[in-house]
Amino acid sequence: METWDAIRARRNVRTYTSDPVPEADLLRIAEAAWRAPSASNRQHWDFVIVTDRDQLEQLSTVWRGARHIAGAAAAIALVIPQYDDDHARLVSYYDLGQATYAIMVAAADLGVGTGHSSVGEQDKARSILGVPDDHDVAFLVGLGYPADRPLRPQLKPNRRPFDEVVRRGHW
Ligand SMILES: Cc1cc2nc3c(=O)[nH]c(=O)nc-3n(C[C@H](O)[C@H](O)[C@H](O)COP(=O)(O)O)c2cc1C
Repeated sequence: METWDAIRARRNVRTYTSDPVPEADLLRIAEAAWRAPSASNRQHWDFVIVTDRDQLEQLSTVWRGARHIAGAAAAIALVIPQYDDDHARLVSYYDLGQATYAIMVAAADLGVGTGHSSVGEQDKARSILGVPDDHDVAFLVGLGYPADRPLRPQLKPNRRPFDEVVRRGHW
């Protein structure tokens, strides 16, 4: 897919076919996260690729919006250190947003759908993934081939009007 098509085709996919995502594609998607920019290139992140069905089913219970993870072919857990400093935590969330979007566009380029999930139950998520107690599983991204409809550029995405959101020179 062309980059512009991948950007326009990406959407949250929450129902997946039972087809596995090839290992090489999973690694490429993870590489997109690994290549993402971060503040001062700090890279305060770790990415855990999960393909085990039992783990995926368990992960689907860590947040009310995580149910789609149970049926995903794979998921990537985005892990960050715990911080005392609010600013450092905020910067890490910005960094993770960049990594998440890189994952999603790289996946869309391969025809692979992605779906975010937040994480509510940290202890449970850490235990499922063996993440140390001084880290948080900040987000999950489900991966798999869309069961609803293929990824195609969306002509009318569900967004506030472009001219209301994008301004020129001043507010
Ligand atoms: C920070 C963040 C957290 C999100 N958490 C969830 C979630 O827990 N469960 C879920 O199904 N979708 C989640 N989403 C997906 C959004 O609902 C979705 O991106 C938004 O509705 C726009 O739809 P689209 O991605 O299909 O364009 C999250 C998205 C972001 C950016």
